[in-house]
Amino acid sequence: MDLFEYQARDLFEKHGVPVLKAQVATTPAEAKKAAEELGGGTVVVKSQVKIGGRGKAGGVKVAKNPDEAEARAEEILGLDIKGHITEKVMIAEGADIAEEYYFSVLLDRSNRTYLAMCSKEGGVEIEQLAEERPEALGKVPVNAIDGIDAAKAEEIAAAAGFDADTAAKVAPVLTKLWTVFAEEDATLVEVNPLVKTGAGEIIALDGKVSLDENADFRQPEHAELVDISAEDPLELKAKKLDLNYVKLDGQVGIIGNGAGLVMSTLDVVAYAGENHGGVKPANFLDIGGGASAEVMANGLDVILGDEQVESVFVNVFGGITACDAVANGIVKALEILGDSATKPLVVRLDGNNVEEGRKILADAAHPLVTLTDTMDGGADKAAELAAAAK
Ligand SMILES: Nc1ncnc2c1ncn2[C@@H]1O[C@H](COP(=O)(O)OP(=O)(O)OP(=O)(O)O)[C@@H](O)[C@H]1O
Ligand SMILES: [Mg+2]
Repeated sequence: MDLFEYQARDLFEKHGVPVLKAQVATTPAEAKKAAEELGGGTVVVKSQVKIGGRGKAGGVKVAKNPDEAEARAEEILGLDIKGHITEKVMIAEGADIAEEYYFSVLLDRSNRTYLAMCSKEGGVEIEQLAEERPEALGKVPVNAIDGIDAAKAEEIAAAAGFDADTAAKVAPVLTKLWTVFAEEDATLVEVNPLVKTGAGEIIALDGKVSLDENADFRQPEHAELVDISAEDPLELKAKKLDLNYVKLDGQVGIIGNGAGLVMSTLDVVAYAGENHGGVKPANFLDIGGGASAEVMANGLDVILGDEQVESVFVNVFGGITACDAVANGIVKALEILGDSATKPLVVRLDGNNVEEGRKILADAAHPLVTLTDTMDGGADKAAELAAAAK
């Protein structure tokens, strides 16, 4: 999950990285008030969007007083930066910048390690620097156990080409930025620019942080950082129900167990759809090994909440949870959903206790349910039903 700059700033502050005072505003009036509360002097009004290049797009502007802050916020709020509409601005104290540096630490998957990158030539587009003058961008691998301790920070500062005096000031900030990275379970912490002020202080003026969602279970506070307005409402609902769901753009809802089976079901449905006016799968949903009635009901509920869905293909391979348990799950799920189950359901069961499972569904004779024997047959039937309903 990528964070907004103001959220990154808050995490920096929490871990002792020097940052400037700042407030978030969603209206020009709030921006004016924020500028007043920051002392009434020069502030910078910054678009809060999760995309780079804000400055170039007119999303970062200096304001000399609260009235100017209001006017700049008026211009920036609503600004479209590469398809991202500005809904919030951050009002930050103005810094007296003497020099701009670059620092980042990230997960380097190809080398199975972490990598710190640092340059005394920051502020600019770092990709361009890396391409044109790679020697100006110091790269230092960082061991996961040791992290960026004092010695590693000195090594990084030396690779960046700082003079001794600046290196001594920058190094402690780098160890603090590592603390952010490690303790918040981030996959990226980037500061561009890290600045030296006229008074010789080092400050993180911008921040980009990506958090590793695999660590959410031990980072309960990160739930508050999720930008609900930007998430698909169905995916949000699925997340709350602990379902592994990804919304797609088609008309055939998919429920399966096991990521591999669900992936191939998407392929088979897309292929079958070509014979039925081009209908496509509407989602990825892996209900996992358990496949209880409740999980089945939750899954169906999310899928039927998708207005584009015209039919649902349930493709389950009975393993530890055998087909009879899955079939009972489907029957109970339809009971739980009652009248809110409105679209035809094509069910293909195979694996453990398949005969018992099919019998349970046949006996229940639910008007919405069609049983099929094969995956291809099921995909074709579901695509046909979706096409007929369109
Ligand atoms: N608080 C501030 N005080 C003074 N100048 C600032 C302040 N914040 C930003 N700037 C100036 O504006 C420039 C751009 O700001 P920033 O790095 O935050 O945005 P950006 O680089 O355009 O956005 P992105 O990082 O999304 O590409 C900085 O390099 C710096 O020169
Ligand atoms: Mg920047």
